[in-house]
Amino acid sequence: MAGDIPSEHRALVLTSTDVGLELKTPQLGNVLVRVEAASLLSYHREIYNGARQYPQLDAPHAGGYSAVGRVAAVGADATALTPGQLVFADCTMRSRDGAGWFLVGVQASLDVGGRRLNADVYRDGAFAEYWTVPLENCHPLDEARLTQGLGYTTADLAYLSYLLVAYGGLRDISLEPGETPIVCPATGGFGGAGVLAAIAMGSRVIAMGRNEKELARLKAHVMSGNPGSSGLIETVRITGDEAADTAALQAFGLADAVLDFSPPHAAGSSHLRCAIRSLRREGRVSLMGLTSDFAEYVVIINNLTLKGKVMYERDDVTQFVKMLERGLLPRGESFVDTKVFKLEQAKEALHAAAEHTGCGRAVVFAP
Ligand SMILES: NC(=O)c1ccc[n+]([C@@H]2O[C@H](COP(=O)([O-])OP(=O)(O)OC[C@H]3O[C@@H](n4cnc5c(N)ncnc54)[C@H](OP(=O)(O)O)[C@@H]3O)[C@@H](O)[C@H]2O)c1
Repeated sequence: MAGDIPSEHRALVLTSTDVGLELKTPQLGNVLVRVEAASLLSYHREIYNGARQYPQLDAPHAGGYSAVGRVAAVGADATALTPGQLVFADCTMRSRDGAGWFLVGVQASLDVGGRRLNADVYRDGAFAEYWTVPLENCHPLDEARLTQGLGYTTADLAYLSYLLVAYGGLRDISLEPGETPIVCPATGGFGGAGVLAAIAMGSRVIAMGRNEKELARLKAHVMSGNPGSSGLIETVRITGDEAADTAALQAFGLADAVLDFSPPHAAGSSHLRCAIRSLRREGRVSLMGLTSDFAEYVVIINNLTLKGKVMYERDDVTQFVKMLERGLLPRGESFVDTKVFKLEQAKEALHAAAEHTGCGRAVVFAP
């Protein structure tokens, strides 16, 4: 198989210059993946133009997030992965011998050892034809079941990169079937994925957002994927009137959990406090956005649990892929509407990713 791997490939680097990378045969512990669909974030453009301050490696390095691709070659210590296999390749990198953690292509490590691992070993992200990732970051996908059986395209499967984050937060606060989480805000990419993940886990969801039109689209999207089911989703508009927004949430009864995906520019919004006030005693909150607007006396009075969560654990990926393969998620456009771009269309793709956001919308590179 190694003979099939070209000696050069194209990659999208942070300097926006095309760079030919020398491809090496995978070493012990890693896999070379031929990227088929690399997900973009709605805020990739802001990260790469410096408007959103994420710790970054010095340029040049290829950008990226997670991807769906095919194993091109494996290191000699691979025991299950084989060339040709379809995989979800995860950008979440963890040091094997320490506390280092980073998202290759998105966010560098704050840990010295992790930063060195990022800079020297896993430097380049998925915006490339080939991508080297650790063995444990490759999750096999049952291609026949997912594509022929359930009708997903490989581009659509890259939506896993959104759903998994929300699932990671919901699983971290032990969301149970039949419970009601409030997702706020729910009109963004990750919030929208949170609504779909929670429903797939057997929940009824209360979705909060500022944009009434987008809340209506979100509800219609959920119902199109779950025809015949009623009461799966309720929506509440964020008006900024704390008493009114809290009353609107509580009109649906006290919730069991909150999943928060507030972006940094939502600082000062009262929606999370309203959601926290609408929890039952012993309710749980997963803080996945970048907000500090959660100080609220009911946290103490009601014995609430607030947990920060970044991304998900490896076992969460295994579990969620099983849910997808069992058919617990919607299909076709009720799952996701994916816009596909070539690496050469980087500017258009970054722009589309910022615009084509919300539940069931995704943008990918198909290098
Ligand atoms: N913990 C993790 O592992 C993890 C992983 C990925 C992302 N994140 C976080 O998740 C955040 C959301 O990402 P995304 O891709 O979903 O972003 P997005 O698609 O841009 O969505 C942003 C959401 O925030 C809402 N919003 C913006 N300003 C607001 C305000 N002032 N008040 C209330 N709502 C406001 C938007 O509502 P409108 O529709 O009304 O504009 C939209 O629902 C990111 O910023 C990142 O910090 C965390």
